[in-house]
Amino acid sequence: MKNFFSNVIKIDPAERLRGDFQLPGDKSISHRSAMFAAISEGQTRLRNYSSARDCQSTLDCLEALGVKINRNPGLIAIDGGGLDGLRQPAWMLDAGNSGSTIRMLTGILAGQKFTSEITGDDSVQRRPMKRIIDPLRLMGADIVARENSFAPLRITGGDLRAIEYTPPVASAQVKSCVLLAGLFAEGRTTVIEKTPTRNHTEVMLRECGAAIDLGKPDEGARISVIGRKPLLALGDYVVAGDLSSASFFIVAALNTPDAEMHLRHIGINPSRTALIEVLTQIGARIEIENKRLAHGEPVADIVAKSSGLQGDLELSGAIIANLIDEIPVLAVAATKLHGTLTIRDARELRVKECDRIRAIVDNLRRMGAKVEEFEDGLRLTGPQKLSGAQVDSFGDHRIAMSFAVAGLMADSETEIMGAEAADVSLPEFFQILADSGASISRN
Ligand code: S3P
Repeated sequence: MKNFFSNVIKIDPAERLRGDFQLPGDKSISHRSAMFAAISEGQTRLRNYSSARDCQSTLDCLEALGVKINRNPGLIAIDGGGLDGLRQPAWMLDAGNSGSTIRMLTGILAGQKFTSEITGDDSVQRRPMKRIIDPLRLMGADIVARENSFAPLRITGGDLRAIEYTPPVASAQVKSCVLLAGLFAEGRTTVIEKTPTRNHTEVMLRECGAAIDLGKPDEGARISVIGRKPLLALGDYVVAGDLSSASFFIVAALNTPDAEMHLRHIGINPSRTALIEVLTQIGARIEIENKRLAHGEPVADIVAKSSGLQGDLELSGAIIANLIDEIPVLAVAATKLHGTLTIRDARELRVKECDRIRAIVDNLRRMGAKVEEFEDGLRLTGPQKLSGAQVDSFGDHRIAMSFAVAGLMADSETEIMGAEAADVSLPEFFQILADSGASISRN
């Protein structure tokens, strides 16, 4: 499937959504699989690697670092050169729109004996990098950043020392950055997590035979890795479908009439499933079938059907990190909830691909919904009518897709400006909706 819609798309209220799909690979796992493949010993063959533009940015950066990558449809083959196999890039690396690429790759670059530079698009250049610069400097890397906080970054690494570090923000990207740098440091690098975040890096480190220790439960979350030990290639690895992408189709099915969506082989790592858990609490008809384990990651098939949502949801504290990428589509879902959704402690949303709190509130208001904005969240009481309107992606993939779902739930046609932003994580998004029976047209 390829993306055939771009820029402005129009979407009609859904009458009947039916589909059975295997979604492209998880974006978080795809980034990690390519990075681990590059620094491990031997060949890795990745199937169902994400088609997201972000994950292509990761492959582009790795190629610029001298990694041999064969990109065939459905199969990415990466020849790992081991911990010392990367070479100095001839130009500045470009992470595009991808915060995961720049933050995690900088951890690897910090372990190299050469100097490299990395940047990204306007959005990435506005996103906070101090959160990775601080620990990497403590490890001994020399990092120059614009205003000491933003990309472009110039990194001169090598001879890192192991540290024990407690990130000030709950961030899997920061945790992963420090653990990746730790692979190049002599001794044990430990990240102490006050709030658990997605653990794909830890799972994959184990799959690669790394000396990783997740600590004892009574010690809190102390994740440590011993550096300078060779990593084994993942070999043949199938990336599970992306649950964050699935969430748009799940919410669309729950909130439109006569809908039933089947999504196959989706990753259901418990550090990512909070959306499903909270939706189930308020009456969502979501079935999780054929649970299994693949490469250390839990996987299942998911079925979502039209549902009536009822109850109050007050979400704050630790659950927010597990749900962070799904909050935009959850807010959209809440317009059909018989009850109130309150989100707090979600300040991080303001420094994602766009200020997502602003974008959600602004677009919901354009569609006639009443929503209260907080500095760290929002509150919305449903059910509310959504009127077809012109909404904006704000250049953010998850806002584009969330408001396409809102368009399916509205009472008349919705126009999404900058809809092509969806390509950043799911270029097939509008095609899948159209194949499920949604009425979509290009302006
Ligand atoms: C990601 C972690 C999260 C998430 C992002 C992907 C990852 O970001 O929002 O989409 O793959 O580690 P933070 O770690 O910055 O919260």
